[in-house]
Amino acid sequence: MRRLASLLLFSILTATAACSQSPSPATPAQGTPRPNLYACEGCEAVYDHPEGDLDWQLTIPPEDEPGEVLVLTGRVFKPDETTPAPGVILYVHHTNAEGLYPQRGGEAGWGRRHGYLHGWLKTDAGGRYRITTIRPAPYPNASLPAHIHLYVGEPERRPYYIDDVVFEDDPWVTDRYRDAAENRGGSGIIALMLDDDDTWRGTHDIVLEW
Ligand SMILES: [Fe+2]
Repeated sequence: MRRLASLLLFSILTATAACSQSPSPATPAQGTPRPNLYACEGCEAVYDHPEGDLDWQLTIPPEDEPGEVLVLTGRVFKPDETTPAPGVILYVHHTNAEGLYPQRGGEAGWGRRHGYLHGWLKTDAGGRYRITTIRPAPYPNASLPAHIHLYVGEPERRPYYIDDVVFEDDPWVTDRYRDAAENRGGSGIIALMLDDDDTWRGTHDIVLEW
Protein backbone atom coordinates (compact mmCIF):
# COMPACT_ATOMS: atom_id res chain seq x y z
CA MET A 1 0.00 0.00 0.00
CA ARG A 2 2.83 2.37 0.89
CA ARG A 3 4.44 1.60 -2.47
CA LEU A 4 1.16 2.37 -4.23
CA ALA A 5 0.80 5.63 -2.31
CA SER A 6 4.35 6.58 -3.21
CA LEU A 7 3.71 5.73 -6.84
CA LEU A 8 0.56 7.84 -6.90
CA LEU A 9 2.37 10.74 -5.24
CA PHE A 10 5.22 10.47 -7.72
CA SER A 11 2.85 10.33 -10.63
CA ILE A 12 0.94 13.39 -9.47
CA LEU A 13 4.18 15.29 -8.90
CA THR A 14 5.55 14.38 -12.30
CA ALA A 15 2.20 15.14 -13.86
CA THR A 16 2.30 18.56 -12.27
CA ALA A 17 5.84 19.12 -13.48
CA ALA A 18 4.96 17.94 -16.96
CA CYS A 19 1.92 20.20 -17.14
CA SER A 20 3.37 23.30 -15.46
CA GLN A 21 4.25 25.10 -18.64
CA SER A 22 3.64 28.82 -18.72
CA PRO A 23 0.54 30.11 -20.52
CA SER A 24 0.93 32.46 -23.44
CA PRO A 25 -1.35 34.17 -25.95
CA ALA A 26 -3.07 31.88 -28.43
CA THR A 27 -2.15 33.70 -31.64
CA PRO A 28 1.45 34.70 -32.29
CA ALA A 29 2.37 37.54 -34.60
CA GLN A 30 3.57 36.18 -37.93
CA GLY A 31 7.33 36.06 -38.25
CA THR A 32 8.02 36.28 -34.54
CA PRO A 33 7.77 33.67 -31.84
CA ARG A 34 4.85 33.97 -29.46
CA PRO A 35 5.78 35.30 -26.02
CA ASN A 36 7.01 32.56 -23.71
CA LEU A 37 7.39 30.10 -26.56
CA TYR A 38 10.61 28.87 -25.03
CA ALA A 39 9.50 29.12 -21.40
CA CYS A 40 9.47 25.44 -20.87
CA GLU A 41 10.58 23.14 -18.13
CA GLY A 42 11.88 19.91 -19.57
CA CYS A 43 11.97 20.85 -23.24
CA GLU A 44 15.67 20.06 -23.28
CA ALA A 45 14.55 16.43 -23.37
CA VAL A 46 14.12 16.88 -27.11
CA TYR A 47 17.88 16.71 -27.61
CA ASP A 48 18.55 13.95 -25.06
CA HIS A 49 17.64 11.21 -27.47
CA PRO A 50 19.71 8.03 -27.83
CA GLU A 51 22.72 8.29 -30.08
CA GLY A 52 22.29 7.42 -33.70
CA ASP A 53 19.77 8.28 -36.36
CA LEU A 54 16.17 8.73 -35.35
CA ASP A 55 13.45 7.17 -37.47
CA TRP A 56 10.19 8.87 -38.47
CA GLN A 57 8.32 5.97 -36.93
CA LEU A 58 8.34 5.41 -33.18
CA THR A 59 7.02 2.52 -31.13
CA ILE A 60 6.86 3.48 -27.46
CA PRO A 61 5.58 0.68 -25.20
CA PRO A 62 7.12 -2.70 -24.52
CA GLU A 63 5.16 -5.59 -26.03
CA ASP A 64 3.63 -6.57 -22.70
CA GLU A 65 2.31 -3.09 -21.88
CA PRO A 66 -1.40 -3.30 -20.93
CA GLY A 67 -3.74 -1.06 -22.87
CA GLU A 68 -5.44 -0.42 -26.18
CA VAL A 69 -3.19 0.07 -29.17
CA LEU A 70 -3.10 3.61 -30.55
CA VAL A 71 -1.48 4.69 -33.80
CA LEU A 72 -1.00 8.43 -34.20
CA THR A 73 0.14 9.73 -37.56
CA GLY A 74 0.61 13.15 -39.02
CA ARG A 75 2.84 15.61 -40.79
CA VAL A 76 4.78 18.57 -39.53
CA PHE A 77 4.48 21.73 -41.62
CA LYS A 78 6.29 25.02 -41.68
CA PRO A 79 4.33 28.09 -40.54
CA ASP A 80 2.85 28.55 -44.04
CA GLU A 81 0.86 25.38 -43.23
CA THR A 82 1.71 23.79 -46.59
CA THR A 83 5.49 23.21 -46.75
CA PRO A 84 6.54 19.94 -45.12
CA ALA A 85 9.12 20.24 -42.34
CA PRO A 86 11.66 17.39 -42.55
CA GLY A 87 14.19 16.61 -39.85
CA VAL A 88 12.08 17.88 -36.95
CA ILE A 89 12.55 15.94 -33.74
CA LEU A 90 9.47 15.13 -31.69
CA TYR A 91 9.83 14.03 -28.09
CA VAL A 92 6.77 12.21 -26.80
CA HIS A 93 5.64 10.98 -23.40
CA HIS A 94 2.35 9.96 -21.87
CA THR A 95 0.64 8.05 -19.10
CA ASN A 96 -0.20 4.37 -19.09
CA ALA A 97 -3.65 2.74 -19.08
CA GLU A 98 -4.01 3.68 -15.38
CA GLY A 99 -3.16 7.34 -15.85
CA LEU A 100 0.29 7.04 -14.33
CA TYR A 101 3.76 7.75 -15.64
CA PRO A 102 5.02 4.25 -14.98
CA GLN A 103 8.44 3.16 -13.88
CA ARG A 104 9.97 -0.29 -13.64
CA GLY A 105 12.81 0.71 -11.38
CA GLY A 106 16.28 1.80 -12.25
CA GLU A 107 15.13 4.42 -14.74
CA ALA A 108 17.77 6.76 -16.02
CA GLY A 109 17.52 10.07 -17.81
CA TRP A 110 14.03 11.31 -18.68
CA GLY A 111 12.53 8.02 -17.61
CA ARG A 112 12.93 9.21 -14.03
CA ARG A 113 10.58 12.13 -14.67
CA HIS A 114 8.35 10.93 -17.45
CA GLY A 115 8.24 7.18 -16.95
CA TYR A 116 9.20 4.64 -19.55
CA LEU A 117 6.41 5.51 -22.00
CA HIS A 118 8.45 8.06 -23.88
CA GLY A 119 10.53 8.31 -27.03
CA TRP A 120 11.88 10.36 -29.90
CA LEU A 121 11.42 10.46 -33.65
CA LYS A 122 12.50 12.65 -36.55
CA THR A 123 10.16 13.62 -39.38
CA ASP A 124 11.00 12.22 -42.81
CA ALA A 125 11.50 14.14 -46.04
CA GLY A 126 7.76 14.69 -46.31
CA GLY A 127 7.45 15.88 -42.71
CA ARG A 128 5.70 12.66 -41.75
CA TYR A 129 5.71 10.92 -38.39
CA ARG A 130 4.05 7.84 -36.94
CA ILE A 131 3.73 6.86 -33.30
CA THR A 132 2.57 3.42 -32.20
CA THR A 133 1.74 3.23 -28.52
CA ILE A 134 -1.13 2.52 -26.11
CA ARG A 135 -4.01 4.85 -25.44
CA PRO A 136 -3.21 6.80 -22.27
CA ALA A 137 -5.71 7.23 -19.45
CA PRO A 138 -6.45 10.44 -17.51
CA TYR A 139 -4.65 11.07 -14.24
CA PRO A 140 -6.44 9.41 -11.34
CA ASN A 141 -8.56 11.78 -9.25
CA ALA A 142 -7.97 14.72 -11.55
CA SER A 143 -10.12 16.65 -14.00
CA LEU A 144 -7.77 16.64 -16.98
CA PRO A 145 -8.25 14.68 -20.17
CA ALA A 146 -5.93 11.86 -21.09
CA HIS A 147 -3.11 13.41 -23.04
CA ILE A 148 0.10 12.89 -24.94
CA HIS A 149 2.85 15.44 -24.38
CA LEU A 150 4.69 16.60 -27.49
CA TYR A 151 7.83 18.69 -27.73
CA VAL A 152 9.30 20.02 -30.96
CA GLY A 153 12.94 20.40 -31.90
CA GLU A 154 13.49 22.22 -35.19
CA PRO A 155 16.97 22.27 -36.72
CA GLU A 156 18.91 25.30 -35.45
CA ARG A 157 16.10 26.29 -33.07
CA ARG A 158 15.51 25.94 -29.37
CA PRO A 159 12.92 23.30 -28.45
CA TYR A 160 9.43 24.11 -27.28
CA TYR A 161 6.29 22.26 -26.30
CA ILE A 162 3.08 22.22 -28.30
CA ASP A 163 -0.48 21.53 -27.22
CA ASP A 164 -1.01 18.12 -25.71
CA VAL A 165 -2.79 15.64 -27.93
CA VAL A 166 -6.18 14.87 -26.38
CA PHE A 167 -9.16 12.98 -27.71
CA GLU A 168 -12.56 14.35 -28.72
CA ASP A 169 -14.39 11.47 -27.08
CA ASP A 170 -12.79 12.20 -23.71
CA PRO A 171 -15.40 13.63 -21.28
CA TRP A 172 -12.73 15.92 -19.84
CA VAL A 173 -12.37 17.69 -23.21
CA THR A 174 -14.96 20.24 -22.17
CA ASP A 175 -15.86 23.63 -23.58
CA ARG A 176 -13.69 25.12 -20.84
CA TYR A 177 -10.76 22.97 -21.95
CA ARG A 178 -11.28 23.98 -25.58
CA ASP A 179 -11.50 27.65 -24.69
CA ALA A 180 -8.27 27.48 -22.70
CA ALA A 181 -6.29 25.73 -25.43
CA GLU A 182 -3.28 27.69 -26.66
CA ASN A 183 -3.21 25.87 -30.00
CA ARG A 184 0.55 25.73 -30.05
CA GLY A 185 1.41 23.82 -33.17
CA GLY A 186 -2.30 23.80 -34.01
CA SER A 187 -5.16 22.25 -32.13
CA GLY A 188 -4.22 19.13 -30.19
CA ILE A 189 -7.81 17.92 -29.97
CA ILE A 190 -8.15 15.00 -32.34
CA ALA A 191 -10.73 12.39 -33.27
CA LEU A 192 -9.90 8.73 -32.83
CA MET A 193 -11.40 5.88 -34.80
CA LEU A 194 -11.42 2.30 -33.58
CA ASP A 195 -10.48 -0.01 -36.43
CA ASP A 196 -11.63 -3.59 -36.95
CA ASP A 197 -8.29 -4.71 -35.57
CA ASP A 198 -9.05 -2.99 -32.23
CA THR A 199 -6.52 -0.27 -32.93
CA TRP A 200 -7.31 3.36 -32.21
CA ARG A 201 -6.13 5.56 -35.06
CA GLY A 202 -5.85 9.30 -35.22
CA THR A 203 -4.17 12.04 -37.23
CA HIS A 204 -2.48 15.11 -35.85
CA ASP A 205 -0.79 17.55 -38.22
CA ILE A 206 1.53 20.04 -36.56
CA VAL A 207 2.30 23.56 -37.78
CA LEU A 208 5.59 24.94 -36.55
CA GLU A 209 5.24 28.09 -34.51
CA TRP A 210 7.49 30.37 -36.54
FE1 LIG B 1 0.93 15.06 -18.23
